[in-house]
Amino acid sequence: MTVTRSAIVGCGSYLPKRVLTNKELALTVDTDDDWIVSRTGIQKRHIAAEGECTSDLALAATREALAAAQMDADEIDLIVLATATPDQTFPSTATAVQAGLGITHGAAFDVQAVCSGFVFALAVADNFIKTGQSKCAAVIGAETFSRILDWEDRNTCVLFGDGAGAVIVKAIEGEGTSDDQGILSTHLHSDGRHQKLLYVDGGPSSTQSTGFLRMEGKEVFRHAVTNLSAVVREALEANDLSTDDLDWLIPHQANKRILDGTARKLGLSPEKVIVTVDQHANTSAASVPLALTQGVKDGRIKLGNLVLMEAMGGGFTWGACVARM
Ligand code: UT7
Repeated sequence: MTVTRSAIVGCGSYLPKRVLTNKELALTVDTDDDWIVSRTGIQKRHIAAEGECTSDLALAATREALAAAQMDADEIDLIVLATATPDQTFPSTATAVQAGLGITHGAAFDVQAVCSGFVFALAVADNFIKTGQSKCAAVIGAETFSRILDWEDRNTCVLFGDGAGAVIVKAIEGEGTSDDQGILSTHLHSDGRHQKLLYVDGGPSSTQSTGFLRMEGKEVFRHAVTNLSAVVREALEANDLSTDDLDWLIPHQANKRILDGTARKLGLSPEKVIVTVDQHANTSAASVPLALTQGVKDGRIKLGNLVLMEAMGGGFTWGACVARM
């Protein structure tokens, strides 16, 4: 029997042009640059232009990922798009991307796991490929969180930004080992008891409005460090690997202190952690592929490197993926 595995063969990203600095934010809400930088590491965020939707960001990132993979859109037979800020309630934002790419074959759908969405989407694509249902997937994380922020709530509005990241995941024949290019494993978790710690206070079925993001930051922080270090350990153990084997940890970019806390708990050197939260704040499902693409573009993440992606978000949801680039 032929064994198929999946591999990430191209990465792309897109950030809207408009940059909103901490100093600018401090003109409209009771905050200051010092607080934001010292408590979160965030210096600025990108904000989508009027009329610029999640699908526009996603499409730009996907086109760049296809170019990096030296592939045509025609080769894609699956689009899995992670977002908590879709263009509309339906149809899925993934179908808008599919139309934008000019393809009509294959399947396109969204997954919703908030900030963990990209890792969940990657797991879906990996399993579609392993079971032979797809040969080549575009896996996208794209968000316009600026549209669901209460811009008068300093507890939340300073923390998030808009953006998109995408990867092309392709079928490779053969079982492979942990030394070969490919996704080694994915690990997903959810615990619905904590919904009220991080949620949006609206939706089509409850309030018939979009609503605003609400968060108990301190509580989320505590759960994040615990759950993320646990899922990283789980992912390493599943592959008989240790933190020393990792070339790069690519964490969800929520707060520099969460990244430092998780790395410390794992005994991982900070030099092995890709950090982009300073540049674009928390972009939810887009943050892991944005960090991955940044690391690839600036030459830190090289072919053959072992990377571990992890994320945690509303629900709670959390997960990890180990991959050889
Ligand atoms: O993507 C996954 C989900 N999100 C996260 O992972 C985020 C997790 N949480 C966090 O990143 C942090 O908890 C925050 C950055 C949200 C907050 O940091 P903290 O150190 O936990 O601060 P805190 O909530 O304990 O607030 C400390 C103080 C409060 O004032 P009082 O009550 O002590 O007088 C807040 O009102 O800081 C105040 N504060 C602010 N001050 C200036 C909260 N937001 C701001 C602000 N500017 N923007």
